[in-house]
Amino acid sequence: MLKWEDKYRTGVAQIDEQHQRLFAIANEAYGLLKNELRTDKYDDIVAILAELRDYTKYHFQSEEEYMLSIGYKKFLSHKAEHADFIAKIAEVDLDKVDDNQDAYLRETLDFVATWIAEHILGRDMLYVAAKG
Ligand SMILES: [Fe+2]
Repeated sequence: MLKWEDKYRTGVAQIDEQHQRLFAIANEAYGLLKNELRTDKYDDIVAILAELRDYTKYHFQSEEEYMLSIGYKKFLSHKAEHADFIAKIAEVDLDKVDDNQDAYLRETLDFVATWIAEHILGRDMLYVAAKG
C-alpha cells in the first residue's frame, strides 16, 4: 500500500490533491489484490489500470503546465520522465493479466507505487525547491 505522508507534500494544493488521488487508485488496486473472495478479478484489474493510465496522463499534463508557469528550467527532462512512465504503463500486457492475475497485478502495482513515490520525492520536489 502507499501511505500518504507529509514528506510527499509539494505545497501546491492542486498537485497534492492529484498525487493523493494517484495513491488512492493504487491502493484500490492493492485492495483488489488482497481480496481473496474474488476469484476472477480480470475486469476490475483492466478497469483500474485504465483509470490509473487516464488519471496519470491528466495529472502529468497539469503538472507540466504548472512547471511551465513557474519557468522551471528542467521542464523537458521532467516531462521525458513522465512520457517514459506512460509508455511503461501502456506496455502492460492484458493477456498476461489473465494467466496469473495476482502475480501480474502485484508486479505492476509494485512498479507503479515505487515509481510514484520516488518520482514525487526525487523529481517533483526539485520544481518545488526551484520555485523557492
Ligand atoms: Fe512529475
